[in-house]
Amino acid sequence: MKQSRRSFIKGGIAGAISGAGLPLYGSEASESLPPTPNETEGPFYPVQAQKDKDFDLTLIEGSSQSAAGNHIYVEGIVVDTAMNPVEDVTIELWQANAAGRYRHPHDTNPAPIDPHFQGWAIVPSGAKGDFRFKTVLPGAYAVSGRWLRPPHIHFKVSKRGYEELVTQMYFPGNELNEVDRLLQRKTQEEQSAMISAKIKDAPETYQYRIVIQPV
Ligand SMILES: [Fe+2]
Repeated sequence: MKQSRRSFIKGGIAGAISGAGLPLYGSEASESLPPTPNETEGPFYPVQAQKDKDFDLTLIEGSSQSAAGNHIYVEGIVVDTAMNPVEDVTIELWQANAAGRYRHPHDTNPAPIDPHFQGWAIVPSGAKGDFRFKTVLPGAYAVSGRWLRPPHIHFKVSKRGYEELVTQMYFPGNELNEVDRLLQRKTQEEQSAMISAKIKDAPETYQYRIVIQPV
């Protein structure tokens, strides 16, 4: 029997996330999902013009050398709060390089800038709300005193007719998640929604669901 799109979303993405050992965010029986929790944009939102903002952050156009670090894929889906896929969403993402350094004038972290790491991308969601990008596993970095931010990727997600979402995606199993001052302000359910699921070792691939709400 052909599955409806809605049951595909529930059985596919939600099923895969629960299959990866993460608690399910929202129940499979429910017909709606809470929007992905907001998180601060932080001080390192890109401010310098950059020509190459494509989905492969490990390779800057025109360069023959790829970014240092552990190359990973992130694949996901954008749905609305009624669990319908949302196409043509603008997904902007930025992150630290593998050493924990942003390419940003205000980042005073002594870790080196990686000239081969793109650091910033803008990708659209496809017809089924799907998106995919290749990047490096971001490094942890010190904010102040003993606060080390766990590896994370910043997102700004927008489409006309929907509330803009600014959030951060985390990685499963990182012990810094347990003590992060931002992530730990969230409820368990919210944390589950913000932590991606690892679905493949080679190539290392993480799955992430973004839920946006109509205005
Ligand atoms: Fe950050």
